[in-house]
Amino acid sequence: MEITPPSIEASSSFPNHIAIIMDGNGRWAKQRGLPRFKGHTAGVESARGVIRYLNDKYHLKYLTFYGFSTENWSRPKTEVFGILRLFERIMNAEARQLHQEGVRIHHLGRLEELPRGLQRVINRALKLTADNTGMTLSFAFNYGGRTEILDAVRNIIAKGIPAQQIDETLFNSYLYTADLPDVDLLIRTGGELRISNFLIWQSAYSEYYFSDVLWPDFNEAEIEKALLAYRQRQRRFGGL
Ligand code: FPP
Repeated sequence: MEITPPSIEASSSFPNHIAIIMDGNGRWAKQRGLPRFKGHTAGVESARGVIRYLNDKYHLKYLTFYGFSTENWSRPKTEVFGILRLFERIMNAEARQLHQEGVRIHHLGRLEELPRGLQRVINRALKLTADNTGMTLSFAFNYGGRTEILDAVRNIIAKGIPAQQIDETLFNSYLYTADLPDVDLLIRTGGELRISNFLIWQSAYSEYYFSDVLWPDFNEAEIEKALLAYRQRQRRFGGL
């Protein structure tokens, strides 16, 4: 059986693909006596800083953010619509600048379930940046790892692919991440020690880095700590 080599492009000292679970916006706002939404707007600033830093200083090839999970729909309606609107606004405002920097924008998740306006803005950004060869910046928005796997299974069955032909390479090609490498470093901020249904197939061999820092406070110094932790680990991919 064919085995997909995990992230062959990653050097042992620097990750090729970093994925981030941005947790702690709500607590950050609460600590300051602000409405939760202010935490999310501060979170956007933090994401902006992380993108710029990893792109300008390290020319990171793949960066992925968990922006909105399939489970997040169960939050209060005002918060859900606030996040959706915020995302639409930043996509609209930032796509051109990212394009000028050679960034390729990518979306992971069920796009068709998002509001029409947001779908349009995302599709426009994808089209605008499709041929760029710099960093691939993915936003998991209306994303769930189990849903992704189920969608892949359904599409494989719908295509009538015989069971003997289904190996890891073929399965990979049916995921939302078909053209992304495996995750090398998965960062979660906000102190929780779980991955919450994020890239569960793609992070099978990832290094995990958990930080107590709340996402709006996750700055360049915090990224450096995560990169240092990564450098200090020895990746063996199940070997000796
Ligand atoms: C976690 O904070 C964060 C989210 C639910 C996602 C929304 C994130 C943003 C709007 C920031 C930037 C977004 C992008 C796409 C770059 P939380 O509300 O779960 O915090 P809590 O655990 O403290 O309540």
